[in-house]
Amino acid sequence: LENFKPEQTADDLVKTIFNYIKHISRLKDFDEIIMTLADMGRDLVGADRATVWLVDEGKKTIWTKVAHGVDRIEVPSGSGIVGCAIQMGEHILINDAYNDERFDKTVDKKTGYETRNIMTIPFRDADDKVIGAFQAINKMTGTGYFTDKDMEHLNLAALYLGSEISSLLLRLEIENTQKEIIFTMAEVGEMRSKETGNHVRRVAEYSKILALGLGMTELESELLKMASPMHDIGKVAIPDAVLLKPGKLDEEEFKIMKSHAYSGYKMLHHSDRRILRAAATIAYEHHEKWNGKGYPRRLSGEEIHIFGRITAIADVFDALGSDRVYKDAWELDRILNLFREEKGEHFDPNLIDVFFENLDEILHIRDKYKDIYK
Ligand code: C2E
Ligand code: SIN
Ligand code: SIN
Ligand code: SIN
Ligand code: FE
Ligand code: FE
Repeated sequence: LENFKPEQTADDLVKTIFNYIKHISRLKDFDEIIMTLADMGRDLVGADRATVWLVDEGKKTIWTKVAHGVDRIEVPSGSGIVGCAIQMGEHILINDAYNDERFDKTVDKKTGYETRNIMTIPFRDADDKVIGAFQAINKMTGTGYFTDKDMEHLNLAALYLGSEISSLLLRLEIENTQKEIIFTMAEVGEMRSKETGNHVRRVAEYSKILALGLGMTELESELLKMASPMHDIGKVAIPDAVLLKPGKLDEEEFKIMKSHAYSGYKMLHHSDRRILRAAATIAYEHHEKWNGKGYPRRLSGEEIHIFGRITAIADVFDALGSDRVYKDAWELDRILNLFREEKGEHFDPNLIDVFFENLDEILHIRDKYKDIYK
């Protein structure tokens, strides 16, 4: 029989948690963070190894990139003890793995490791959805068995892990989606209204400044920044004769033009990517007005999603300051006057305050990404 090390004291545990959390907050790399979280779980319960499993909903698998001592493992969702725990949303403690029919021996077979005991705890995102599980394997302290106390400790780690990982996933998704967006844009063809490039970039930056100024989190603000450039994607469905008309649109033409909001929404809202869903909302609602006189649904006030209200300000500020086929750019003073007049009419009054509070930064962006042609 093996000799197990003594159990950690409560003080040790507190120190362990404190040190890990301090360390993790400085890390940037996804794999490194997950690995460190796995280390934390392992040390909290005195396990030999710990694994962080993540659910891949699209592929219907659960996977871990950073099991201690092993390369990436991917198994069908529902398989093994970890699959069970994730499906049921319940923790599972097993002290004799080989005598439990839920245990999937193939992993041991692949790695040559011998699993004695396993403790698995699902963790959830902010919406309470199970997004993965924490698994500790082989107790190395105390009696050599996992106890209810260990379960409690791992549970605490899992609570922390869930929120940490859902932000990480979002961040990761943002990176992947960035490529997807660029691809989508390219596929759709050059934006015929000639508003590409810097317009889109400025709207993105303004939106983020306003979101942060409003007190939204860094992550939500970044989500908005990534999504807002797609607000006019529905314009690809507008005929050239309308889109590129040098003069004022007549009533019929403007009716066609207004359809770009709903077209954009239709193009994007089926996606299960959070960023594209946010973009769908923005496309749909960026021409709504606070006073209920916008389009396409004549929503008013806080019925309009905050992302739509923010993008409206960013978009109009930029549209007015830019040359369009149908108009010349306005002077800054004229734009600012319009914004003062439209406070509580076109625009969310609270956001207009945020806009003026952050005007220096906004003008800095305007200058940094100014259009080079003209
Ligand atoms: P856009 O050029 O990106 O303009 C976005 C929004 O900025 C407009 O939404 C409007 O709220 C504001 N905006 C832009 N220019 C002016 C302006 O000269 N005066 C004022 N008061 N506001 C301005 P809106 O009006 O719903 O228009 C949506 C889109 O329809 C515009 O996007 C543009 O592509 C097109 N559009 C609007 N009016 C005309 C027009 O007279 N001629 C042409 N060819 N297109 C137009
Ligand atoms: C499982 O059955 O949960 C997988 C076992 C392991 O990771 O060793
Ligand atoms: C999360 O689970 O909250 C982030 C990942 C996603 O929205 O797909
Ligand atoms: C989203 O559509 O995912 C963002 C909505 C929000 O969290 O405000
Ligand atoms: Fe628009
Ligand atoms: Fe625009």
